[in-house]
Amino acid sequence: MDVMRIEGGNPLRGSIPISGSKNAALPALAATLLTEEPCILENVPDLSDIRFMGKILHYLGAEVEQTEATTWKITAANVAPRAPYELVRKMRASVCLMGPLAGRLKRSEVSLPGGCVIGPRPIDMHLKGFAGLGMGINIENGYVQLEASRARGNHIFLGGRHGSTVTGTANVLMAAVLTPGKTLIECAACEPEIVDLCYMLKTMGADIEGIGSPILIVRGVDKLHGCTFKILPDRIEAGTYLIAGAMAAEKLTLQNMRVADQAALIDKLREAEVSIEIDSPTCITVRKSSSPLRPVDVVTHPHPGFPTDLQAQMSSLLSVTPGLSIVTEKVFPNRFMHVPELQRMGADIAIEGPNAIIKGKTSLSGAPVMASDLRASAALILAGLVAEGVTWVLRIYHLDRGYDDIEGKLKAVGAIMNRLPESEMPKELNPQAA
Ligand code: EPZ
Repeated sequence: MDVMRIEGGNPLRGSIPISGSKNAALPALAATLLTEEPCILENVPDLSDIRFMGKILHYLGAEVEQTEATTWKITAANVAPRAPYELVRKMRASVCLMGPLAGRLKRSEVSLPGGCVIGPRPIDMHLKGFAGLGMGINIENGYVQLEASRARGNHIFLGGRHGSTVTGTANVLMAAVLTPGKTLIECAACEPEIVDLCYMLKTMGADIEGIGSPILIVRGVDKLHGCTFKILPDRIEAGTYLIAGAMAAEKLTLQNMRVADQAALIDKLREAEVSIEIDSPTCITVRKSSSPLRPVDVVTHPHPGFPTDLQAQMSSLLSVTPGLSIVTEKVFPNRFMHVPELQRMGADIAIEGPNAIIKGKTSLSGAPVMASDLRASAALILAGLVAEGVTWVLRIYHLDRGYDDIEGKLKAVGAIMNRLPESEMPKELNPQAA
């Protein structure tokens, strides 16, 4: 396994291009199952999760071609309805195969995903949506079997204990577009990735109204046709680098992003008195403030609230913002795997239920730390950029799931960081060394 070695303290200066969105590309790849015609997806990020979804589609029988670095061509002319545990368990997002398979083939058999470090990942709301469409649901041997030959449009409420569900909305939407009748999905997720999926489905011939609102109205059609569709920029990648800039930049410009997707983060960073200039709808410049930032309170919510996927990265920033900040995680209440690792770097954070109480310090110290999930890993990279001394981040395969060339992009703007084989890490520093 590789590790990332980071020398802290070097200011960032230059520009970073933002890649396509992982969380838009994954449901978009699943949506190609809804037609037998070729679908071309552009601006697809180069990530292990994306390659893995391509592998699953190929397993199902689709022709999968990466025609360019960021362009994929998928032709799902003859696909089978079954996605096995040994594939699904490796990537939770593969649950969003259930909807398109059941919509197109009128039956599907997809393994239950299992949990992950950010918490149990139930799919009760997905199943509630499928049941609302009149599908037969059987859970046997860890598989969800859907029978959709008698599925009909219906009024479905998709709100749960933590509000809306992103992949749940995607799943039910992708089933409904080929389900006869009118479906109304209430408390639908409004994330930009869902908006992107709606627009992709419309280019394929789907009939969807209310796009971007919590109420989606879908009128089922008999068939969908192929499409060429460009994936939107990754707002979480962009937000991660915005926070990096607030922590360590002399002047950092982010390009090819979508500023309109960053309202909650920009609002919170400006409250902390971070210097942010909006250069254009696709470009932002951020600078580390010469005076200490102000501590702020952050509460995560479904979009348009503050994204849970930026909570860990924001906690790194607040760890070096003198004063008391409180971060409340309302979407995944246990999403604090980054905290023990930040504490190893000297952060003063106490967890009280869904709250991280952060007493910001003037500095952190470099240390060997362990990545645990995608966004916690990013938080450790950000902390390493500003820590005194060297930080070693282990298990950085988590990073590769969701950040396209993070070390290349950060090194290009001055970060002193290298991806190394774990064997090159000093044995006395490696907690995993025998
Ligand atoms: C999507 O996950 C994202 N993943 C996550 O990003 C993101 O953190 C999450 O949405 C919230 O924004 C993808 O899009 C591939 P949810 P998803 O269903 O859809 C509960 C990353 O780092 N819930 O919106 O799985 C659930 O436990 C990843 O890129 C139910 O109770 O999240 C959570 O508390 C991590 N029952 C809340 O709802 C259900 O049936 C929101 O989950 C479904 C969800």
